Amino acid sequence: MTEPHPNVWFPYAQMGQLQNVPKAIKTQGSKIYLENNKILIDGISSWWTACHGYNNPKIEESIIKQIKKMPHIMFGGFSHEPADNLTDNLLCILSKKYNHVFYADSGSVAVEVSMKMAIQYWLNLGVKEKNKFLSFKHAYHGDTSGAMSVCDPDDGMHSLFKNHISKQIISEIPNSNIQKKKFEKIVADNKSKIAAIILEPLVQCAGGMKMHSTQVLSYIAGVAKKNDILFILDEIATGFGRTGTMFAYEQADIQSDILCLGKALTGGALSLSAVVTTRDVYEAFLGSDLNKALMHGPTYMANPLACAAANASIEIFKDEPRLEQVLNIEKIIKDRMETFSNFPGVLDVRSKGAIGVVQLKRIPDLNWLRNRFTEKGVWIRPFLDIIYIMPCFTIKEDELNQLLDAIEQIIPEWADKFYEQI
Ligand SMILES: Cc1ncc(COP(=O)(O)O)c(C=O)c1O
Repeated sequence: MTEPHPNVWFPYAQMGQLQNVPKAIKTQGSKIYLENNKILIDGISSWWTACHGYNNPKIEESIIKQIKKMPHIMFGGFSHEPADNLTDNLLCILSKKYNHVFYADSGSVAVEVSMKMAIQYWLNLGVKEKNKFLSFKHAYHGDTSGAMSVCDPDDGMHSLFKNHISKQIISEIPNSNIQKKKFEKIVADNKSKIAAIILEPLVQCAGGMKMHSTQVLSYIAGVAKKNDILFILDEIATGFGRTGTMFAYEQADIQSDILCLGKALTGGALSLSAVVTTRDVYEAFLGSDLNKALMHGPTYMANPLACAAANASIEIFKDEPRLEQVLNIEKIIKDRMETFSNFPGVLDVRSKGAIGVVQLKRIPDLNWLRNRFTEKGVWIRPFLDIIYIMPCFTIKEDELNQLLDAIEQIIPEWADKFYEQI
């Protein structure tokens, strides 16, 4: 048991109850070393960032080389090689429709930028009414106010702020024909107000790991296009191989007008995000009028160290069989998790790429469950009603099996202990 520092305020935590915060002292591969000589196998790759495992030597080398030359330089007025290279590298692995890259420093800020771009795109074209967003139930796009406004307003983690931030237009993900009809009506009724539809493609992650099909994804893209509404894909969680292809949108053979990237962009080493747009979106900001320009510029945007890490990470994707590793992880998760669906208290089991999810009927005591996983030597953090894994793509097979063993053993324990409440 490690008591947290009394003056540190931790994320997503009721500080009045927080007792045990393991102290990490070292990482390597898929392992997190704690100060009490304990080792945890990481099941969630540091909030889905460390796609190549921790301490990748090529990323380390790239950062060290860069730090000796120039750790940071403001991007307002200067350019630099790491950002130029990253722009080329990104445009090389993205669909040819994407053309310009705006850098930011975190996923939430990338989402803010994408929303600001969408509203201003229409303003620059002389359309003043299009300033709302259509987003989806179970969506999660970040913790800043614009991003919060496009999260699920009722069941999402920001529901408390529902009446204090912009109200957006929320739809169910149109999985069924009835939902499609409703979705089309919402769009038809509001199209003059909607600047953009924003979606996490294929997997809505932090809102409950809900999955939809490639057909649904391409259907939503089609509706946006047909109704002259911009389409923003938030691939901050799904990008860089997580769903089995480099980007989730590839599986539906679609593109968006704006694409948000973050998290695994730097291979989990440093914070960086990117907002990528089509030529059409970019060109709407051109002219001689400063009012038409995008007035945004986070202090640490395009940080050279983070760009150097991202360049190395993209190189590694080219040199090493990451996507094959993801498909191998997917197969193991599928095979083993299938049996969990028969366990008492399990509502659903689903997987996609290197994402495996067990949805329980209810989790009456999240802390109990989280502590049991840590006691078993794995880092798995259930939330809402789910236990999930999103491991590093380089995780060894025996380590992946340790994660799945822990889930297999702990679900029946949980069902026994909480049988009256579930
Ligand atoms: C889809 C998606 N968008 C945006 C964000 C916010 O990213 P950040 O935590 O880097 O601000 C997250 C974070 O989990 C995310 O999953």
